[in-house]
Amino acid sequence: MTTAMGGENHYFGKEPLLAHGHLFITEKIFELRHQILKECLDACGVSEELQKSWLKIDKAFKHQVVKNKIEECVARYVDEGIISVEMPDETGISSPRSQSGK
Ligand code: HEM
Repeated sequence: MTTAMGGENHYFGKEPLLAHGHLFITEKIFELRHQILKECLDACGVSEELQKSWLKIDKAFKHQVVKNKIEECVARYVDEGIISVEMPDETGISSPRSQSGK
């Protein structure tokens, strides 16, 4: 994100495509997270201009993390399986549930 917004590249972590391969993230979940991100930026008083670029870059990563079906996911470890990211329930707490071996 820092590099995309004009800063220096000090990132040595995983690329989003690889980091989310084992996670079943639907478009609905992605959009919810995106909305929460917007709410956080508002709450932190980030300027409209900066928010616009941040949210645009965030959206640009969508195709790297969202899957249409669980079969598109790739398990990282034999015992871990695919982790299905659930929509939060009425308590507002999301609990990722592991689906072994799929
Ligand atoms: C609803 C959407 C998303 C969910 C549920 C999600 C969830 C996660 C989780 C659980 C991990 C840790 C994976 C592990 O165990 O190693 C992770 C890593 C990561 N996520 Fe996301 N993510 C989402 C969207 C995004 C987006 C849009 C970006 C980019 C803007 C992003 C960037 C990253 C990166 C770079 C890592 C790797 C960090 C590292 O280990 O080096 N994620 N994400």
